[in-house]
Amino acid sequence: SIYSVSALIAAYLFGSIPSAVWIGQAFYGIDVREYGSGNAGATNTFRVLGKKAGIAVMIIDILKGFTATNLAYFIGLSVTGPQNSIQFVNYQLALGITAVMGHLFPVFAGFRGGKGIATLFGMVLAVHFDAALFCVSVFLIVLLISKYVSLSSIIAGFSFPLSIIFVFHSPLRSVVLYGMCICVLILVTHQKNIERLLRGKESKVNVFRKKTA
Ligand code: G3P
Repeated sequence: SIYSVSALIAAYLFGSIPSAVWIGQAFYGIDVREYGSGNAGATNTFRVLGKKAGIAVMIIDILKGFTATNLAYFIGLSVTGPQNSIQFVNYQLALGITAVMGHLFPVFAGFRGGKGIATLFGMVLAVHFDAALFCVSVFLIVLLISKYVSLSSIIAGFSFPLSIIFVFHSPLRSVVLYGMCICVLILVTHQKNIERLLRGKESKVNVFRKKTA
């Protein structure tokens, strides 16, 4: 229907909001894509501009995925089926992935965006809250041990479909299928990170360190 097409366009536009680029330009006068890893995401903003800007970008990017996914509630049950039906969840996932595509290829920032982790998390938060908590826990544990955000993102991404199958025993096969696609997507967007990890050249963070001095 016209509503479902409009919702997909809206999801792409939401995802396209280049929070890292805009916050960097507006408050610090720099494009974060020219520094650090060159990525327009929360991690690189944190790395280049610090905690405040990094957290702001993270929250906005999570909200983009969350909001876009929840546009499913406005499409009309005749199209999406009843809430929590397989069709409804499929619709949510399609909207979420469309927002992630916007984040990766933002129309408002020359189609050079981020890697989609925060936006994917917003989508998972909207679709399966418990799985989202599970993935965050995995992310934080790997980060605490390894200090690599990229590695934490990759492993947390893989933990999503695995948790759907083995922890939550969800009957929603399409969620598992989408989860597997997400794993592939994360591997693609993190290619350079994986190369650096293998060469021992990936940068570490120290978010858990208390401020000294
Ligand atoms: O969320 C992106 C993160 O996994 C890696 O970011 O800037 O270290 O390439 P970055």
